[in-house]
Amino acid sequence: MVREIVIWPDPRLREEARRVEVVDDSVRALIADLFETMYAANGVGLAAPQVAVAKRVITIDTSPKQEGVKPLALVNPVIVKTEGETVYQEGCLSIPGEAEDVTRAAKVWVKALDKDGKEFEVEATDLLAIALQHEIDHLDGKVFVDHVSALKRGLIKRRMQRLKADREQEKAEGKPSQPQRQGTPGL
Ligand code: NI
Repeated sequence: MVREIVIWPDPRLREEARRVEVVDDSVRALIADLFETMYAANGVGLAAPQVAVAKRVITIDTSPKQEGVKPLALVNPVIVKTEGETVYQEGCLSIPGEAEDVTRAAKVWVKALDKDGKEFEVEATDLLAIALQHEIDHLDGKVFVDHVSALKRGLIKRRMQRLKADREQEKAEGKPSQPQRQGTPGL
């Protein structure tokens, strides 16, 4: 089921998501919905808080932009090691139409549970490393604009508030909302 994506600023994107105690069918259903919602929005990553579920679950599929990677679902992901530094222009499905340079680790090692509750580790570079850090930020109530200047963040916040007001009005008038342009991959 495609779920509605929460648009920033929103208190639900500021909460610390809870660890998943048992990876059961409800978690697997959430993972399926995250993939479906992410692909419907042409995104390459999505975290449960972005669909208003405060659980530590993320999905990532950077294969449209990166060769040799597979779709990943991660439950309770933890960054265990990082290496180097890189700058990448990030977008976010919760901040549609915006993109800014963010500095992050170039390489990360992440431990998580898979959809069957089995522990695994992923070693990631390039967009996958960016996506992992961006989505894990979401689980800690952070968004990519927290990594840019207060001035830029303020401007983006005002544009997002306007976008939300427009969407509310479209909804009230019964008009279908327009899909957002997205130059950078949405995370
Ligand atoms: Ni995001």
